[in-house]
Amino acid sequence: MKIAVFASGNGTNLEALIKAEREERLITGKITLVVSDKSGAYALKRAERYGIKTFVLEAQGFASREEYDERLIEELKKEKIELVVLAGFMRILSKPFVEAYDGKILNIHPSKLPAFKGAHAISDAYNDATVSATGVTVHFVTEKLDAGPMILQEEVEITNEDTLTTLEEKIHKVEHKVYPEAVRLVISGHIKKEGG
Ligand code: GRF
Repeated sequence: MKIAVFASGNGTNLEALIKAEREERLITGKITLVVSDKSGAYALKRAERYGIKTFVLEAQGFASREEYDERLIEELKKEKIELVVLAGFMRILSKPFVEAYDGKILNIHPSKLPAFKGAHAISDAYNDATVSATGVTVHFVTEKLDAGPMILQEEVEITNEDTLTTLEEKIHKVEHKVYPEAVRLVISGHIKKEGG
């Protein structure tokens, strides 16, 4: 099963997925393409280091989100991609994209969804004095941001000793364990999205 990983930034989750693939933890899954909307994304360097093909599509020049996404779909079809794994991809996918790959798009979010949606999930949880735990969620992507059906979720405790940095480190460590597991569950067919 050919997988495209989408990343806009650092790419530590991408690297965890590549390592899982190399250790045959993704069963038949093979990461054959890394897509980014940012030419300077460090994730691209990681992909190149592992000899994985990259595709950069910057948003400039596209009249709409749909037009951008149609171009992405075209590339994914060309590369025969069957599973899209979002790993810090900082764009919201439009309806045509989500429909074209319904049930075949995964995302990881650094909170215990439905709590702390959005781009600042870790600091929002850290700065909320009423919560003593946050977490990591892997879910199927739908049109609604951070709201698709969940695949795996793991809690991460926030202690009095935690700084924002230590909490981020703890969350990323859990992400790197949970994301390959979730991808494996979908590839093996143990978890499927049916309807909503
Ligand atoms: C992760 O925290 C992930 O949950 C969020 O974006 C971050 C990506 O980190 N969606 P990295 O680029 O994989 O290091």
